[in-house]
Amino acid sequence: MDSQTQQTYWVTGASSGIGKALTLELANQGHKLIISSRKREELDKLSREFPELIKVIPCDVANSKEMQSLFSLNMPELQSLDGIFLCAGVCEYIDLPNFNLDVFQRVFSINYMGTVNSCAAAYPLLNNSVLLNQNTKPFIIGLCSMSSYLGFPRAEAYGASKAAMAYFLDSLRADIGDRIDVIPVYMGFVKTPMTAQNDFPMPFLISSEQAAKGILKKITKRPLRINFPWRLHLMLSIFTRLQRFWYSFVIPRMRRSGSFS
Ligand SMILES: NC(=O)c1ccc[n+]([C@@H]2O[C@H](COP(=O)([O-])OP(=O)(O)OC[C@H]3O[C@@H](n4cnc5c(N)ncnc54)[C@H](OP(=O)(O)O)[C@@H]3O)[C@@H](O)[C@H]2O)c1
Repeated sequence: MDSQTQQTYWVTGASSGIGKALTLELANQGHKLIISSRKREELDKLSREFPELIKVIPCDVANSKEMQSLFSLNMPELQSLDGIFLCAGVCEYIDLPNFNLDVFQRVFSINYMGTVNSCAAAYPLLNNSVLLNQNTKPFIIGLCSMSSYLGFPRAEAYGASKAAMAYFLDSLRADIGDRIDVIPVYMGFVKTPMTAQNDFPMPFLISSEQAAKGILKKITKRPLRINFPWRLHLMLSIFTRLQRFWYSFVIPRMRRSGSFS
């Protein structure tokens, strides 16, 4: 790949699932990558596959203090970033009647504050890419979720954190969209370690490789948002127009028996 087309991207949540699949896809395309997550060993394994292209910077995205100096401490030579893929996230469910407040704190600190911390850390470098007058507009891609279209059982923490994340990205676009593209990705079900815990049917389930390829294909057109896969998006979009039907007929069949005792 020549230096004109080779880009430098940051991928968070790169140790597993969609972030790992994006890392492999982008490295195979010849781009330079900085990859992050908490588990250094997993990141190092990826870096060993592409030693010329991948640099590892482990971090906890929920740690605002650590995130503030992430690049200046670990990679002071880095001048700019062409794009970032925010894949770090966790899913924990609520089992009512226990409003487990620790779960709310944890999920919001990683999914919502982790996104804010990551954008704050990368913003100066994305902005430098604009100032250096490079050919392509830099971007922020955030992995949101179709779970925020409608209320799902047990998703009081996870779904709400993803809705907050999506709103944050929309608002960020309103402020910086003239210079940096901000694109929330509303993902459907993807087979990853995160969804391995799900004990309910996951319609239109795709692999993490399909998810990565689909996201990379769709961002070439720089849409305002990506909804993927489209079949689940269509199905849930219809239910957003038929909310009484969703809450009265679909949801009771999804509820765990006895979960609201
Ligand atoms: N899979 C789906 O069906 C689906 C659907 C909609 C949206 N999403 C979203 O897509 C993203 C990726 O999910 P996935 O399915 O690929 O899950 P995954 O396989 O569990 O990967 C999650 C990644 O996030 C990292 N991570 C978690 N907490 C972190 C923290 N505090 N700091 C830094 N990194 C952290 C994990 O690495 P470490 O443990 O090494 O930190 C891991 O690399 C998530 O934001 C998820 O909400 C997934």
